Amino acid sequence: MKTLSMAALSVLGFLIEPAWLWAAAPAQSAPTFTSVQSSNGQSAYARLCARCHGSNLDDGEFGPPLRGTVFVARWRGRSLAELDSLLKNTMPPDSPGSLSDRTYADLMAFLLSQVGVSATDAELPSESATLAMMLFPGALSEVDQRRALGPSGGLAPGTVLPSWPAKPSLLDTLTAVTDAMLQSPPQEDWLIWRQSFNDAGFSPLAQIGKQNVGTLRLAWALALPAGPNEATPLVHDGVVFVHSYNDHVLALDAATGDELWHYARRLPNGIGPSVQRNIALYGDMLYLGTSDAHVVALNAKSGRVVWDQPIADPSMWRVSGGPLVASGKVMQGVVGRAPGGGFIVGLDAATGGESWRFHSIAQSGQAGDRSWNGAPLDQRSGGSVWTAGSYDPQLRLAFFGPAQTYDTAVLQHPTQQLGISNDGLYLDSTVALDPATGRMAWYFQHLPNDQWDYDWAFERQILQLPIGGKLTKLVVTAGKLGIYDALDAASGKYAFSIDLGIQDLITSINPKTGAKTIDPVRYPDGIRRVSVCPHAGGGRSWLPGSYNPRTHIVYLPMVESCMDMLPMQKGEHGSLSSGYRWALRPRPDTDGKYGRIQAVNLATRETVWVARQRAPQSSGVLDTAGGVLFAGALDRWFSAYDDASGELLWRQRLSDVPSSAPISFAAHGKQYVAMVVGYGGAQAMTFSNLVPEISPPPARSSSIWVFELP
Ligand code: HEC
Repeated sequence: MKTLSMAALSVLGFLIEPAWLWAAAPAQSAPTFTSVQSSNGQSAYARLCARCHGSNLDDGEFGPPLRGTVFVARWRGRSLAELDSLLKNTMPPDSPGSLSDRTYADLMAFLLSQVGVSATDAELPSESATLAMMLFPGALSEVDQRRALGPSGGLAPGTVLPSWPAKPSLLDTLTAVTDAMLQSPPQEDWLIWRQSFNDAGFSPLAQIGKQNVGTLRLAWALALPAGPNEATPLVHDGVVFVHSYNDHVLALDAATGDELWHYARRLPNGIGPSVQRNIALYGDMLYLGTSDAHVVALNAKSGRVVWDQPIADPSMWRVSGGPLVASGKVMQGVVGRAPGGGFIVGLDAATGGESWRFHSIAQSGQAGDRSWNGAPLDQRSGGSVWTAGSYDPQLRLAFFGPAQTYDTAVLQHPTQQLGISNDGLYLDSTVALDPATGRMAWYFQHLPNDQWDYDWAFERQILQLPIGGKLTKLVVTAGKLGIYDALDAASGKYAFSIDLGIQDLITSINPKTGAKTIDPVRYPDGIRRVSVCPHAGGGRSWLPGSYNPRTHIVYLPMVESCMDMLPMQKGEHGSLSSGYRWALRPRPDTDGKYGRIQAVNLATRETVWVARQRAPQSSGVLDTAGGVLFAGALDRWFSAYDDASGELLWRQRLSDVPSSAPISFAAHGKQYVAMVVGYGGAQAMTFSNLVPEISPPPARSSSIWVFELP
């Protein structure tokens, strides 16, 4: 793109300022300000604005340029009243409207001085009626003007568009999300990424049922910012909130797909976008974790930033699972490999202030300190928090699952010292935290000394089942091995396990303690090549399952695969510090089908059905009260199954790979099903290798698809 220096621009601009701009609006006057105003504005800018927009106005890491072609093209010919109201309503973002009218006028005078307007004796007024008469100058070359107007050349000079009745905005009727709503979500909403605090991922809506799902058709679709998209949308009061790659959030009319607002974050130089899997609603705010490791609260009605809190160094940590908001706290975990390990922060939902920080790796002096084979804290890493936690309001406990470590070498070859183990707490564990304090009430380690990258790090469902004749509240969760462990939610006491039959690492599980016996042949000793199932990409991965509380059946999307762990030669770089890298291969007994959805009754602990297909599963699943289960796969088919039998009832090919989790909601009394597509996440790319005939999408894209009954 051709660039002009500011001086050249302003000189050029004023010489060729089109006469029509002024001629078309004779009542308007040229902007004026005094040099005192602009110099006061300059110091206010340095104090209040430069940290985001840059000291040069166009070199900010966190705000768009406030001078130059793009800025001028946006504002030329618009009234200063508009700019004034934007400044007062949105800037500075953490306290809009906090400055005096005089300071806002000074700032605007400074901005005007930077686009070539000269100071005079006449002050820039601060009343909006007078400002409405003044237009922002269009200091653009003819070439740049045409570029700004687009290929059609824009509207003809002097055009007045006929008025068109504005639709009443859904945002006006959007209500605050209360604790009571989160604890008992309205059927038509989808307020939490897995629908409710208990992570069931189940819709109580039943208009779409087994009899009519075959007639499901497109209601609307919308292209989203292109890139891998794994985020589950939320719905409240007829508004869909959808997160998209590169840190965008859109609010859309749930029935029509009309855009209501659009938030786009500017990432600091050097930080690329990463994938975040969920957003959260509470009060009148929408919360998101960002690619530069901040948590941001947006006003749900406007999309404007209410607060913006950094939680970690973005060069070392990322945010993957989004926030869990419960009990007035925004809980957000991080993922990364830095020494000392991962953590979860608890932020005040109203202000973003940090209340607590829970370290997912046992710290020096803590009980679990002795589970790290004697290694000092700076040699321990991992415990990434890939998935948002679930929450039980009665127990007041949040359940998270810190993942494994890639720095596996420190946990090999245990010392014989008394009391020292190589379990590596709290890797591959469920930790129960008090949201008020971050204090850990209990933990249970599902897989001690994980040498394979077998994260036990995904959603944790909270449900009730009879255990020993007593109805018991359980936390149930499966790791990459495809083994469900059920724990007493109040105490963490082990209840039972169910092995879904796709792994060969664990040879037995102690029915009393849940302790797992590992096949010694599969333990990587640093010398041998090790073959083990599943692949490190996961028999199951982050793709969330769905639990039907009425039938006690849980549905889990999986991929049938295995891996060879290949020892690295000296000097080669492995994925694990033990000196191994993973390599994908099919199961030894494969028939070429890799995609698998398994329905398991948690009350009887028996598999009800298994649906297998060629294409690896690529999305979470959604079961509904209509008895229909929705799921997506790598071949871009979005499918509906009979949840009692696994029979395929409907399917639709989508524009890209279904890659988040389907949801269902209602607007104006009508049920919809939505699926976000957007290929490029690690799970989907890993398993593409198994199906060479299934072409991945030729270009990056992302869309939301919404289906309805005719
Ligand atoms: C915390 C970072 C931050 C601070 C501090 C900040 N801004 Fe901004 N500003 C932004 C961001 C981000 C946007 C883009 C908002 C959007 O697109 O929704 C923006 C947008 C703007 C715009 C509109 C730009 C356009 O292209 O239309 C103006 C004007 C502006 N800011 C002026 C100011 C002034 C004046 C101050 C100081 C009082 C200030 N900002 C302080 C982050 C900041």
